[in-house]
Amino acid sequence: MLLTVEHLRIAFKSEGRVSVPVRDVSFSVPRSGRVAIVGESGCGKSLTALSLGSLVDRADITGKISGTKRISYVFQNPMQSLNPVMRVGAQISEALGGNSKGEIVKLLKDVGLGEDTQRKYPCQLSGGQQQRVMIAMALAARSELLVADEPTTALDVTTQKEVLDLVDRVAKANSTAVLLITHNLGLVAQYSDYVNVMYAGEIVESGSVFDILANPRHPYTEGLAAAVPRLDAPKDALLQDIPGTVPPPTSWPVGCAFAPRCPYVAEACRKSDFVSCPKVSHNGKGGSI
Ligand SMILES: Nc1ncnc2c1ncn2[C@@H]1O[C@H](COP(=O)(O)OP(=O)(O)OP(=O)(O)O)[C@@H](O)[C@H]1O
Ligand code: SF4
Ligand SMILES: [Mg+2]
Repeated sequence: MLLTVEHLRIAFKSEGRVSVPVRDVSFSVPRSGRVAIVGESGCGKSLTALSLGSLVDRADITGKISGTKRISYVFQNPMQSLNPVMRVGAQISEALGGNSKGEIVKLLKDVGLGEDTQRKYPCQLSGGQQQRVMIAMALAARSELLVADEPTTALDVTTQKEVLDLVDRVAKANSTAVLLITHNLGLVAQYSDYVNVMYAGEIVESGSVFDILANPRHPYTEGLAAAVPRLDAPKDALLQDIPGTVPPPTSWPVGCAFAPRCPYVAEACRKSDFVSCPKVSHNGKGGSI
């Protein structure tokens, strides 16, 4: 395995209160693999992703993360990562570990940007172009794992597809693994082979994308799958959404955290000694590949 995460727990303490946004997360990414973490806003996806590169500050982190340290990120907002007062060429050069004009131009070309981009500042580029620069920097750093955390949420649909197609193409060409973080199971179906479904700080189900879409077992996965448009659905079919929202980590419900939103909830689901969802077999949780 390129990267293995075992029983990751991330807790924060503030004003005497403890919140645990990531409670028990285990998953792995094979060398050159295409893995996704999918879940709604507030499930703990970004914290999990950031912890892989030791980028979470002032948290109490337990569990084990082993494997590659050569990780690059493409975030939802590339301006979070690009230096606004440094030209693009200089930033790529830094990622390369030294100036190499020929290589910078080649990298820019590989991600579909012209030679003149190297003289520009990030603010002179569109959101899609900024994401391409981030991908070029990941290539320059010869990363073994590219973590793409909602990389296209801020982009229009056409640019979204261009950027994700580029990540896919570039990763394949360089044998780079991709961990795609998204709330959109539709994107997972297109760009990942293996998926971990995350809810309220836990992986509730994981498996091959094909199996999860064809046969979702956890009610939350079922809800996410019902929200994905299907070409074979009748024209008048309505997309289903999951009622309610993810509770804040300061008040995860007792028992199964999905119970307040679950159409199959039973009394046992709300008990403090609840262990796992009866609709998912024991090996469906915290899966490995
Ligand atoms: N530094 C922090 N201190 C305390 N709580 C935090 C911190 N960072 C994140 N959280 C909380 O942890 C929870 C999970 O955050 P995270 O950013 O991982 O969610 P996410 O699944 O990536 O959501 P989104 O889809 O909106 O990006 C949120 O409720 C958030 O408020
Ligand atoms: S444990 Fe119960 S409430 Fe939770 S998802 Fe499964 S059936 Fe629903
Ligand atoms: Mg996030």
